[in-house]
Amino acid sequence: MARDKIALIGGGQIGGTLALLAGLKELGDVVIFDIVDGVPQGKALDIAEASPVLGFDATLAGGKDYAVIKGADVVIVTAGVPRKPGMSRDDLLAVNAKVMAAAGQGIAKYAPDAFVIVITNPLDAMVWALQKASGLPANKVVGMAGVLDSARFRYFLAEEFKVSVEDVTAFVLGGHGDSMVPLIRYSTVAGIPVPDLIKMGWTTRKKIDEIVERTRNGGAEIVNLLKTGSAFYAPAAAAIEMADSYLKDKKRIMPVAAYLDGQYGVKGLYVGVPVVIGAGGVERVVEIQLNAGEKAGFAKSAATVRGLVEATVKLEPSLA
Ligand code: APR
Repeated sequence: MARDKIALIGGGQIGGTLALLAGLKELGDVVIFDIVDGVPQGKALDIAEASPVLGFDATLAGGKDYAVIKGADVVIVTAGVPRKPGMSRDDLLAVNAKVMAAAGQGIAKYAPDAFVIVITNPLDAMVWALQKASGLPANKVVGMAGVLDSARFRYFLAEEFKVSVEDVTAFVLGGHGDSMVPLIRYSTVAGIPVPDLIKMGWTTRKKIDEIVERTRNGGAEIVNLLKTGSAFYAPAAAAIEMADSYLKDKKRIMPVAAYLDGQYGVKGLYVGVPVVIGAGGVERVVEIQLNAGEKAGFAKSAATVRGLVEATVKLEPSLA
């Protein structure tokens, strides 16, 4: 059986890390597309030359013609510009909306059967734009945000409780970043919900509130440290986990930016919700009961996303 093919649109910081992780996890052969000639070819060759040492078999190639992504099973999109200190994700809209329009057309032409994972920010609007531009089924186009937000949340909780990250689960809803809605009551350590851990004296409400705030600002914290760009290791790891669930039909339940058609009271938008990812793409949206506070947080988050989508259409009327 031939190997699966993973196409990366954008061969920058996240793109290169995705290629390395796809190789290490033996997800399949990798192609990197980028508008900068030489960079995707160079990164592909560098990683291919690491494969004998790291012990994986895959072909890696790069190019600046969309034809390289032909027949891909999974496409991961990071093309565009990242944030610099002082910028919000929304400041990237003007440049990245155009990039999504081009990437969408390339995917429609060369990889119309692929499962597409968008990472480019502002995420919830860019995944909407890419689905629109590509015309691919909405259940085959998702955005990576929740897995990253919940990974950050899990890491901070594990640090607080001094336990393994493997025993911490976290549950987040809503848009990427500031409008994220963490669900404390569904976040657990070895199955024990965080509110119970507060009652048990393991932590305090104040400490958990601080962790939630740090998670919301997790991206900005990294941007301020790096100064030249934004996070790339954790975003790449999160997207690879999503690709893995699709390619292996694992049916993992993950928080992703998924197209909502009435679920959670939202229609025609991509917002972060838990979904089942398997061979059918998004196979099911998990619709949990929200309490009043959570409902309000989610509605606010969806309204922010709607505003971003409207701004995107103004900048790129071809997406209307
Ligand atoms: N088509 C293809 N590639 C493009 C295009 C385009 N139209 N425009 C830019 N690129 C490429 C750049 O040449 C660069 O190699 O996209 C790559 C982006 O890489 P980085 O600048 O290193 O950015 P990265 O850190 O990988 O982040 C990419 O993901 O998390 C988001 O906010 C982040 O939007 C940003 C994206």
